[in-house]
Amino acid sequence: MSIVALILAAGQGTRLKSKLPKVLHPLAGRALIHYAIDAAQAAAGARPVLVVGHGADDVRVAVGARAGFVEQAEQLGTGHAVLQGRVALGGHVADVLVTYGDMPLLRAETLRALVERRRASQAAIALLTIDSAGLFDFGRVIRASDDGVTAVVEVAQATPAQLALPERNVGAYCFDGAWLWEALERLPLSPKGEYYLTDAVALAVADGRRVEAVKTGDEAETIGINTRAQLAQAEVALRQRVNTAWMAAGVTLVDPATTYIAPTVTIGPDTVIAPNTHLQGATTIGAECEIGPNSVIVDTTIGDRCVVRQSLLESAWLAEDVDVGPFAHLRSGARLERGVHMGNFGEVKNATLGPGVKMGHFSYIGDAQIGSEANISAGTITCNYDGVKKNKTVLGERVFLGSNTLLVAPVTLGDDSQTGAGSVVTRDIPANMLALGVPARVVRERAPASAPHGEGKAQAQPDGAPTER
Ligand code: UD1
Ligand code: CA
Repeated sequence: MSIVALILAAGQGTRLKSKLPKVLHPLAGRALIHYAIDAAQAAAGARPVLVVGHGADDVRVAVGARAGFVEQAEQLGTGHAVLQGRVALGGHVADVLVTYGDMPLLRAETLRALVERRRASQAAIALLTIDSAGLFDFGRVIRASDDGVTAVVEVAQATPAQLALPERNVGAYCFDGAWLWEALERLPLSPKGEYYLTDAVALAVADGRRVEAVKTGDEAETIGINTRAQLAQAEVALRQRVNTAWMAAGVTLVDPATTYIAPTVTIGPDTVIAPNTHLQGATTIGAECEIGPNSVIVDTTIGDRCVVRQSLLESAWLAEDVDVGPFAHLRSGARLERGVHMGNFGEVKNATLGPGVKMGHFSYIGDAQIGSEANISAGTITCNYDGVKKNKTVLGERVFLGSNTLLVAPVTLGDDSQTGAGSVVTRDIPANMLALGVPARVVRERAPASAPHGEGKAQAQPDGAPTER
């Protein structure tokens, strides 16, 4: 038997005081509605249908092909909203899951439990409830003396005795599709002028049908976003859930309260994440890494045993055994191969640093290909932009740049070539040659690396900066 899922997302979200439709507000970097879609999709095993109204066009664009859509032109209540799905889903006689688009922490397993309970009991409705002394705005669940659920009463209509009841309606339901669609036509108009989905409970009981309640013990699941304060509360709850799962999977979080891991991120075991670290988007981190503190890593892949200190990484790729920072900035297309060392105040964009490249201090490498074991000395800059277009810099293997070398692209330096400190390289340097000056001219063959104090004028100093004497 199949399941269909309907997500209500037509409301305005007035209390957010926002131009943005409620369900498009971001939670951990992703629009709220995507969380509801994930859960519904996983529980039903099929694409959910969204009821849209306020900001419908924007919601459609943000959701794309992840859901089907029906429109509720006028927001006449949650019961009326579900009825709008009748044409799309009305032929469906098995299980109809209904959730609200503003409840991002509701789990797929919980929705499955609703389906299973309804099937096992042949109830008209299985609804999710929680016992809570808080959650004042939530509908109250009324039970008969035999404990069977008889009604859900909204706060505005509840008597003082009903308000004092501990069981709340969370806002997730599984309906018997054979009963639901016709029953919705019979919902009464509430004193507020809306058709409440929750009135379907009393209707089912009047029809002689059972209504079952599944209780959750997890208050996070009940968080509905009506205000910015609740949005912040959901951030904390989601963070706790995600962080707890990563710790259980073998990742050390030194301070989970200041570790921000998006649900889309993956991390290998024995990696240690230091405080104030933000891992966002499609980021993947390998095993045995040390990440942070104070780092922001977005859409980046990091191999095993890497170290990232106090740095910003965006759309970058790091192989194994790479260390970066402090104060490094990797931008789109930065590719650091195995064993690269990138120290402080470096920026790499759309460039590959080959295996074992060292780039210790104050450098910008953009639109470049750097061969293995090359040494990028302090203050190296690829002058990649000529005012019209970006030009490429290519360095061969084991190239040794003097401090403050400017590489005016397009330019190519052959394997084992070298520049003197302060060189402005405007023309290619052949393999094995040393170039010096402004503009740099080739002067002679590079001294063998094993004889730094040889005959030549340019000498590699211990800090790696060859100096002309
Ligand atoms: C609802 C429940 C209440 C429950 C609470 C939990 C009803 C009548 N009440 O109240 O029992 O305790 O959730 O959070 O269902 N929506 C539409 N079209 C409409 C009206 C609402 O699509 O005409 C959507 C909203 O966008 C929202 C969801 O339905 O995503 C819930 O509506 P909301 O007004 O927030 O209901 P609550 O008052 O919170
Ligand atoms: Ca709500």
